Amino acid sequence: MAVFHTLDDIEVRGKRVLVRADLNVPVHDGRVVDATRVTRLAPTIRELADRGARVVVMSHFGRPKDGVDPALSLKPLVEPLGQAIGRNVAFVSDCIGAAVRQAVEKLAPGDVLLLENLRFHAGEEKNDPAFAKELAALGDIYVNDAFSTAHRAHASTEAIAHLLPSAAGRLMEAELRALQAALETPERPVAAIVAGSKVSTKLQLLDFLVTKVQVLIIGGAMANTMLLAKGLDVGRSLVERDMLDTGRALFAKAKTASCELILPVDAVVATELKAGTTTSVVSVDHVPADKMMLDIGPASVQVIAAKLAQCKTLVWNGPVGAFEVKPFDAGTNAIARNVAELTGAGELMSVAGGGDTLAALTQAGVVDRLSYASAAGGAFLEWLEGRELPGVKALKYG
Ligand code: 3PG
Repeated sequence: MAVFHTLDDIEVRGKRVLVRADLNVPVHDGRVVDATRVTRLAPTIRELADRGARVVVMSHFGRPKDGVDPALSLKPLVEPLGQAIGRNVAFVSDCIGAAVRQAVEKLAPGDVLLLENLRFHAGEEKNDPAFAKELAALGDIYVNDAFSTAHRAHASTEAIAHLLPSAAGRLMEAELRALQAALETPERPVAAIVAGSKVSTKLQLLDFLVTKVQVLIIGGAMANTMLLAKGLDVGRSLVERDMLDTGRALFAKAKTASCELILPVDAVVATELKAGTTTSVVSVDHVPADKMMLDIGPASVQVIAAKLAQCKTLVWNGPVGAFEVKPFDAGTNAIARNVAELTGAGELMSVAGGGDTLAALTQAGVVDRLSYASAAGGAFLEWLEGRELPGVKALKYG
């Protein structure tokens, strides 16, 4: 386990505890449409409040361009957060300044206060020391429970950790434990499923993983590019023609690293990506010239399932087909159920992450049956690429 403090190491009674949360959740017409991040944050806030801390919660929300944007206020999060923790949550319409300091001073042990969107101040994204200092003045202890923002070196995730005694919240702690178990000290063989539409956006990830895992399964439209690089005819499938040399280099690198690279052997094809459209299943070396590969086929599902049955650890990023359009969700659903079963049987330690991946696992009804499903997007990807995340680094001591 990395060297950082957790809530077990800090005495919080009567103290002002400044919690960096990630309340960047989808909101439509003032209503939260997916509260996963709020629910997952709740145990940390509840525990701190139960232990008598005066809890000050801060977060960003969206990407405001230029100062205050009322459409990106955190106010709509007050009620969902209160519901999730079972306590009233007060709100203050800024995150620094005299009014905020007064609101914090009024807090009694067990009270919870939510600050307005950090990104209404330019200093946040600039990791500005002066802005971090103003934030730090609001707390005696800093708790970071926002792994999903840890890839950003911002004032509330990086600079502030150097100004106050710091600890990881329960969600950050669980996330780091799962991620370390999956890639830093995994039980072998380790498999990775990397899927999505473009090789180009996941190049660094593929490059890193071939040296780390024993089995690399590629799915989604990325696999089309890899199949084309192998010389197969992929019909009208989505491909990146400028990535063919890169694809070939990846085959070579995998071979040198003794990483088994697995591509689909069959595919569900159609002439258009449309719900309920006519489909057929073809071998990947018989893709009709007028059709597109939109999901992996049943033979590929079997190949992947057989491979996973031999592995002890899995990291997964990206749905293997166009899962948001039925029936092209079938391959992803089948793999998701298979991973959930192997995990439930104690045969596989499984960690998945990324926005689409979480949505696909939720749709398949197995999101709670993996060892860990991360709600982080960019942070999960950067971690999977082997990069040190500034928000995690800043929490470490020693
Ligand atoms: C996310 O939703 O991935 C995090 O909240 C980070 O948001 P950002 O990409 O706007 O920094």
